Amino acid sequence: MENNKRPESMARINNAELAEKFIAEQVAAVKAQVGEKKVLLALSGGVDSSVVAALLIKAIGKNLVCVHVNHGLLRKGEPEQVVEVFRNRMNANLVYVDAVDRFLDKLAGVAEPEQKRKIIGAEFIRVFEEEARKQDGIEFLAQGTIYPDILESGPVKAHHNVGGLPDDLKFELVEPLKFLFKDEVRVVGKALGLPDEMVYRQPFPGPGLGVRCLGAITRERLECVRESDAILREEFAKNGLAGKVWQYFTVVPDFKSVGVKEGKRTFAYPVILRAVNTVDAMTATVENVPFALLQHITDRITKEVPGVNRVLYDLTPKPCGTIEWE
Ligand code: XMP
Repeated sequence: MENNKRPESMARINNAELAEKFIAEQVAAVKAQVGEKKVLLALSGGVDSSVVAALLIKAIGKNLVCVHVNHGLLRKGEPEQVVEVFRNRMNANLVYVDAVDRFLDKLAGVAEPEQKRKIIGAEFIRVFEEEARKQDGIEFLAQGTIYPDILESGPVKAHHNVGGLPDDLKFELVEPLKFLFKDEVRVVGKALGLPDEMVYRQPFPGPGLGVRCLGAITRERLECVRESDAILREEFAKNGLAGKVWQYFTVVPDFKSVGVKEGKRTFAYPVILRAVNTVDAMTATVENVPFALLQHITDRITKEVPGVNRVLYDLTPKPCGTIEWE
């Protein structure tokens, strides 16, 4: 069994100089581990997988094969950003898989939250497996495992343990971040030249917008979630809340309410806003968003997002509400 304990002598990486030193050491270690062989990585665009990708591109260039699966449940602009940053700017060997229809077809009519998670996780493995089989000569699998995942104190990743690749695809693992804490991963990501929106982004669940489009997912309500989330993020960024609030997003339930627009009755979906602060995601408090900003966001969402006629702000701390609604 490999050593999975962070060496006591390892300094906390909290500045650019220490980040550069870590990067140089890991580049050498990865080169020594994989030589001229190919490495496969599932690149979601989240902080951890993005930092692994940037590090491995530095070490082995095109011998890193990044697979980005667009499952249709990503935030607005995310798949495009992955392609822009990694393929266009970093010249990565990136396979982009448009699996939107595949995921949404599998999820059609499924309302139970854990069932939705299972379908998303299992389908993800299946798509990734298919891509892995198309690649020749892969011997290694890179993963964005970080130290809290090893300590199993990370509630975020513990959620989506859906099993792994089949036995004949059990590659040797490359896990250059496995002794790092999240703040250190960000310092390293910054030193590797990743954009701030990627390095400092808020946590985003594996099943993505799928657990924010409540009940059985429809394309119409999924767009309501995606568009309202984009407006919330834009307004939080403009008003200095983006780096301050731990997690903020929108939720769309599967019922409609009556409203009125230009003298006519409407029957449309509500959007729920959620903005919380926490240290470890086990408990959370609600951000005190200025009322005028909530009103402005409400105004924008009801005007700009088709199919929405009402906006609510969730005032529930954790406990007794969880952070997500499903
Ligand atoms: P809850 O809703 O349990 O969320 O208070 C705590 C943190 O975990 C995230 N979360 C998930 N992350 N897969 C993930 O990768 C999931 O299925 C999942 N469910 C919740 C949530 O966004 C919050 O940061």
